[in-house]
Amino acid sequence: MAVESAIELSVESAIEAVRSVTYLREPIVTTGMSDVHVVGLCGSLRNESYTRVALGVVLEAAEEAGATVELLDLREYELPLFDADVDRADAGDADELARRVREADAIVLGTPMYHGSFSSPLKTAIDYCGFDEFEDKTVGLLAVSGGAFPVSALDQLRSVCRALNAWVIPHEAAVPTPRSAIEDGALVDEKLENRVATLGRRAVQYATIEPDPESFESEQNVGASGK
Ligand SMILES: Cc1cc2nc3c(=O)[nH]c(=O)nc-3n(C[C@H](O)[C@H](O)[C@H](O)COP(=O)(O)O)c2cc1C
Repeated sequence: MAVESAIELSVESAIEAVRSVTYLREPIVTTGMSDVHVVGLCGSLRNESYTRVALGVVLEAAEEAGATVELLDLREYELPLFDADVDRADAGDADELARRVREADAIVLGTPMYHGSFSSPLKTAIDYCGFDEFEDKTVGLLAVSGGAFPVSALDQLRSVCRALNAWVIPHEAAVPTPRSAIEDGALVDEKLENRVATLGRRAVQYATIEPDPESFESEQNVGASGK
C-alpha cells in the first residue's frame, strides 16, 4: 500500500473515532424546558459579596435558558462547623440545605478565593452534603478573587466534585479583581459577562447529561458513612 493511502486511511479512522466519541457525549438538550432546576451556592458570607453578584449573573442566564433557579445564600442558614459525630438532623439548617441541593438538577458553586483555595463556608456546606446530593449531578464552578489568579480555587473545587462523582461542566468562570470588574452590581466587561453567563446556560444545557462511570476517586471514597 502506498504511504499516502495508508495515511489517508488512518486519518479517516481517526475522524470516525472522534465522531463516535462525540456522539456518545452528546448532551440531552434541555434548553427551554421548564423542569430543570438550578441552584447556586454562594460561598461568601460578606454582605457586599462580589461572588453573590457574579452568581446572580449565572442564575439569571440559567433562568433565561428555561430553568427555575434558586440562590442558596449561606448567610440564611445556621450551619455549625461540620462535626462527623453530630447527626445532620441535629446540625442547625444542614438538613434543609442538603434537601435543596438534592432537589436540584444542576448546582453552581460560587466561591471567593481564600488563601489560594475555596472558602470555608462553602466547604462546610459541601461537607453536609455527599453522594446523595452530588452524584451524577451537573456542577458549574465560579470563583472570584481579589487578585488576578482565581484558578486554583476552581481546580480544587473540581477535585472535590470529582470525588463526589458529579459531572463538572468543562467551562468554568473566574472573575479576577472584582473591584474594577463589578460596578453597581453588574459585570462591566462584556466578554467577562458572557463567560459568566455561559456557565448558567451550560448548567441548563447539560443538566441531564448521561452520567459518566464512577471516577477512581469516587470508587475509593467511602464518604461520610466511612467515619
Ligand atoms: C481570608 C481571605 C483570604 C483571601 N485570599 C486571597 C487569595 O489567596 N488570593 C486572592 O486573589 N484574593 C484573596 N482574598 C480576596 C478575596 O478573594 C476577594 O476579596 C473576593 O472579592 C472576596 O469575595 P466576596 O466579595 O464574594 O466576599 C482573600 C480574602 C480573604 C478574606
